[in-house]
Amino acid sequence: MKIRFMTFVFGALAIASSLSAPASAATGEASLYDRLGGYDAVSAVVDDFAAKLFDDPVVGARFFGMGEDSREGFRQKNKNLVCAATGGPCKIISRSATQTHTGLGIKASEFSIVAQHLVDTLNKFKVPQKEHDELMAIIGSLRPDIVEVEDE
Ligand code: HEM
Repeated sequence: MKIRFMTFVFGALAIASSLSAPASAATGEASLYDRLGGYDAVSAVVDDFAAKLFDDPVVGARFFGMGEDSREGFRQKNKNLVCAATGGPCKIISRSATQTHTGLGIKASEFSIVAQHLVDTLNKFKVPQKEHDELMAIIGSLRPDIVEVEDE
C-alpha cells in the first residue's frame, strides 16, 4: 500500500527545513526518543531501514557505488538526525535535507518507496502506533525539501 505522506504531516511538525523535537517538557510526556527506546533502538531502526534502501530495486540505484565507509557515514548521519529530531541528545552531523537532495531529481514515487521501507522497519520492530505516527510525521515533514518531481 502506498503511503501518502501528507496524511502524516500534522501541521505543527511540518516545518520545511528545520526538524522539531516534540515539546515533551510542556506535557510531562517522555520525549519520542525515550519512548522509542533511546539510542540503541534508533540505531537498530536506522540500520534495518538503510539496508532496505540499499537493497531496493528502484531506490537502491541512488546508492550504487557507495562504498561501505560512505554507507556507514550515511547510517550515522541518519541516526543522529532521528535521535536529535525526536528529542534525543545527539547533534545533527548532516547537511540540510535541501542541500543534500536538491539536484538529484528525486521523485515522489521514490519518496513513497523510502517511506514504506521505514514503515516496514517500524512494524518489524513493533513500534507502537503513536510513536510510529509521530516519527513518520517528522520524516514526512522533510518531503518538500527532498522531492523535486511529482510523479504520483
Ligand atoms: C525520507 C526522508 C529522508 C531522509 C530523512 C534522508 C536523510 C538523508 C541524510 C541524513 C543524508 C546524508 C546527508 C549528508 O551527507 O550530509 C542523505 C543523503 C542522501 N539521500 Fe536522503 N533522506 C531521505 C529521503 C531520500 C530519498 C527519497 C532519496 C532517493 C531515493 C534519498 C537519496 C539520498 C542520496 C542519494 C543521498 C546521498 C547524497 C550524497 O552523498 O551526495 N534520500 N539523506
